[in-house]
Amino acid sequence: MDHFHYRSRVLHCEEIPVSVLAEKYGTPLYIYSRNTILHHLGQLKRAFAAVEPLICYSVKTNGNVHLCRIMAENGAGFDVTSGGELYRALQAGGQGSKIVFAGVGKTDAELRDGLDNGVFLFNVESEGELLALGEVARSLGKTAPVALRVNPDLPPKTHAKTDTSVKGVKFGLDIDTVLEFAQKVVDHPHVKIVGLHMHLGSPILKTDPYKQGIDKGLVLIDQLRQQGHNIVYWNMGGGFGIHYRKKEALPADAFAEVIVPGIKQARCKLVLEPGRFIVGNAGILVSRVIYTKESGGKHFIIQDAAMNDLIRPTLYDSFHRIWPVEPAAGLPTPPEDYESGIAGTRIQDVVGPVCESGDFLAKDRALPDLRRGDLLATFSAGAYGMSMSSNYNSRPRAAEVLVEGSNHRLIRRRESFQDLVRPEVEATA
Ligand code: LLP
Repeated sequence: MDHFHYRSRVLHCEEIPVSVLAEKYGTPLYIYSRNTILHHLGQLKRAFAAVEPLICYSVKTNGNVHLCRIMAENGAGFDVTSGGELYRALQAGGQGSKIVFAGVGKTDAELRDGLDNGVFLFNVESEGELLALGEVARSLGKTAPVALRVNPDLPPKTHAKTDTSVKGVKFGLDIDTVLEFAQKVVDHPHVKIVGLHMHLGSPILKTDPYKQGIDKGLVLIDQLRQQGHNIVYWNMGGGFGIHYRKKEALPADAFAEVIVPGIKQARCKLVLEPGRFIVGNAGILVSRVIYTKESGGKHFIIQDAAMNDLIRPTLYDSFHRIWPVEPAAGLPTPPEDYESGIAGTRIQDVVGPVCESGDFLAKDRALPDLRRGDLLATFSAGAYGMSMSSNYNSRPRAAEVLVEGSNHRLIRRRESFQDLVRPEVEATA
């Protein structure tokens, strides 16, 4: 469920016509629905309630401090993956005691930052990292709480670029050798292994990988305990998929059904690091058509959002639903199935102004003929949209607006040309 719907043939976010926001703030524009965020966060809380999880919102998904503040105000902690994300989480009102620090390449400065801010768990991914963490903790006279991030070596389950639990990727400690390593650090004076971490990949549209991960984790937790590690936390990461094409995602309950019994059996406290599930369907990217053209037997809709605003289609061939904000009479609002024939449409590519053939939001998509100035909505853009945006082609980054009911506010102003050159000008000032 989300709060984007057509009313009198105009797309609304909650109670506000999207066209009103596009007029006021310009395009490209990210629009988020606060009630959709709360709905999905609530679904997770309810689904996993039996084991009272600590839900650590994954800041990389969308790090806008105003969105992070919604999470903090509603009891969530944060999963951070860099010093910058830790800074964002703290700015948003996050407390170290609810922050997990993930990432395969934390620097000494980041480890120190994490310890200074009392982060609750460091997800450690290599022997080198554990030793560095121990050294930094010693220098501060502290003991670092650690969850070992294990790569459980499961069959492929999502796009190769975002599958983190197959053999041969950079993530986690190899499940075949993790015990040898853990044995060596049982009595480490400045590092305490208190948890197991397993993020399987993203997005995941089935429950089997979690079941397989739980089965392997149960055995491992037993073995770690036998070595003398007091394993208290089990962090299952994030990865829960969302609706991009139609209704392909599973409800939170389905994941809880396979994860909760494992957590109970392990007598652990559950930590989750969801990102996409909470914000993915809570955001759209609105753009305006600049030109249409025909070339090489193809129809192109050239609009003002580009790969620098939303890189997912270019990077992962991801599918995002796209539909006019104000579809003409006779067109569905919106179509049930964007891939098959829709009356009043023809097959077109939706592309942006960036100078690369890989700059597209959609290829070979059934869309109606559009005119200069028409508005388009790209749906399910709340996750890994703005957070992966760039200034490529010296394009200022889009503005972001948060809607709640019939209220809205700007939560990130559109960048200016001055913003683009400021660090360069300041460097030589
Ligand atoms: N925890 C860890 C350790 C992660 O690496 C990630 C995502 C998450 C949690 C959150 O996963 P989520 O619940 O959002 O699925 N840019 C790609 C996705 C990359 C995911 C990176 N790690 C995309 O646009 O699909």
